[in-house]
Amino acid sequence: MMNLIPLPKTYAENEGVYTFGGKIKSDFELPLINGFAELCNDADFVIKKDESVSREGYKLTVNTDKLVIKASSEIGAYYALQSVRRLCSFDTGGREVPCCEIDDEPRFKWRGLQLDESRHFFGKDTVKRYLDFMFAEKLNTFHWHLTDDQGWRIEIKKYPLLTEIGSKRAYTQVGGWESAKTENEPHFGFYTQEDIKEIVSFAAERGITVVPEIDFPAHCASAMAGYPELACFPKETEVPGYFGGLIPQRRFDFRWNRTLCCGKESTFDFVFGVLDEVCELFSSKYIHIGGDEAPTGEWKRCAECQRVIKENGLKNEDELQGWFENRLISYLKEKGKTPIGWNEIIRSKNLNNEGNSVVVQYWTPKRDKFAEAYANSGGAMVLSNHQSFYFDMPYAMYPLSSTYNYKPSDYGISVSDNILGVEGELWSEWIPDREKLDLSAFPRIQALAEVAWSPEEKRDFADFKRRLDLLKPTLKKLEIGYAEDEISLNSDEAQKRLINKKFRRGDPLLELKLNKN
Ligand code: ACM
Ligand code: ZN
Repeated sequence: MMNLIPLPKTYAENEGVYTFGGKIKSDFELPLINGFAELCNDADFVIKKDESVSREGYKLTVNTDKLVIKASSEIGAYYALQSVRRLCSFDTGGREVPCCEIDDEPRFKWRGLQLDESRHFFGKDTVKRYLDFMFAEKLNTFHWHLTDDQGWRIEIKKYPLLTEIGSKRAYTQVGGWESAKTENEPHFGFYTQEDIKEIVSFAAERGITVVPEIDFPAHCASAMAGYPELACFPKETEVPGYFGGLIPQRRFDFRWNRTLCCGKESTFDFVFGVLDEVCELFSSKYIHIGGDEAPTGEWKRCAECQRVIKENGLKNEDELQGWFENRLISYLKEKGKTPIGWNEIIRSKNLNNEGNSVVVQYWTPKRDKFAEAYANSGGAMVLSNHQSFYFDMPYAMYPLSSTYNYKPSDYGISVSDNILGVEGELWSEWIPDREKLDLSAFPRIQALAEVAWSPEEKRDFADFKRRLDLLKPTLKKLEIGYAEDEISLNSDEAQKRLINKKFRRGDPLLELKLNKN
């Protein structure tokens, strides 16, 4: 029974099996093969270089006495090996590969997963573990959300207080969005530039591009804790440990998610200084500059921001954000980088986006006519539809099927080359540790991989679930704490209501406790 996830482009099963003896003859060097096989000159498991195969694609022919892989690149060969690994259930001791013929290549070039390490810092080991899981599922873009209000996680040598002050908070909100409770333990952590280089190269070995996100002009409270002058109205603040909701309202304390002052030239010195180091550290052509959820209140009251609006003939504060984004876009383009931002950035009518080349990441839960028009007029886009790809939400709210069944056309997007692909988001306000991270991510990552890789017309949720059941022993063996179906599919309505209520206020970890595996 075919057990591959993601489903290949074409698959034909034949009679018999090939028994894998652990030796491979390869035209590629494949340094990551260790543990799976040994490279040698004399084997009937053969990897051939074939320039006619697309870069991430592969062809696989399995006969009882011979297994042949064709690929044009190392990553194509690795993806073929990941398929063989699954076909024989290698990780749980299987060595029999069913005879078959596979011709495979991805649907989308951007097959992404995002991890928010600002709200909770997980550290290098967890990141590497996730990069390995991504590699196994043929995902190729790791979007690393490194800065936000609740913590700055990347060392910037020019601005040491970003991490000396901005990477530590004294407490953390617990108990859901509407809770006023806090856990009064310090939370801290950041990546040194050496750590970043190590992760970027670990990812590259697995065919994964690391796209850093430095979120501007809002979600900058952790930066302002170190450098208060970045705000329109500087004041001494700590790194906030709450995520919104009741706490700021009750305390009348709105020191989170404030925008950078766009009127002061010193703000641009800071932003460009940060981007200079970020562009040096990350080989990715794409640099994510955020742009989401920017409040305009302080800009309205700030003399410097109002001066810039007047001097540049801008109509309002939305255009001030557009003007701010334009300067970042030009700066990055001069460095040969392609900026990516959340879909709010194209609401500014003055966004300077020649050739529609700024990548827009469409996330908002409500449909955005600007985003849809942008995509359908050839704008570059990554799709992260909230209802399908916000993996931090409970399964009781967004079941596995809502990820699996995602179709761009259901959200007004017609797919052509400008649609780079899809991405799952692991926001971590309510993900304090690896156990909850695994539950939120698995098996949504498998569903995401199939949306990202497999032909849309071949997808079938019932068949996916059958293949997922075949994968579960492997997930267990690899100590991946996935969500069982009961919490997403078989929960009764009352239990779903309870989970969702607790997610807002009470116990955002309830689903984890109910999970039965
Ligand atoms: C977002 O979820 N604010 C991009
Ligand atoms: Zn200002």
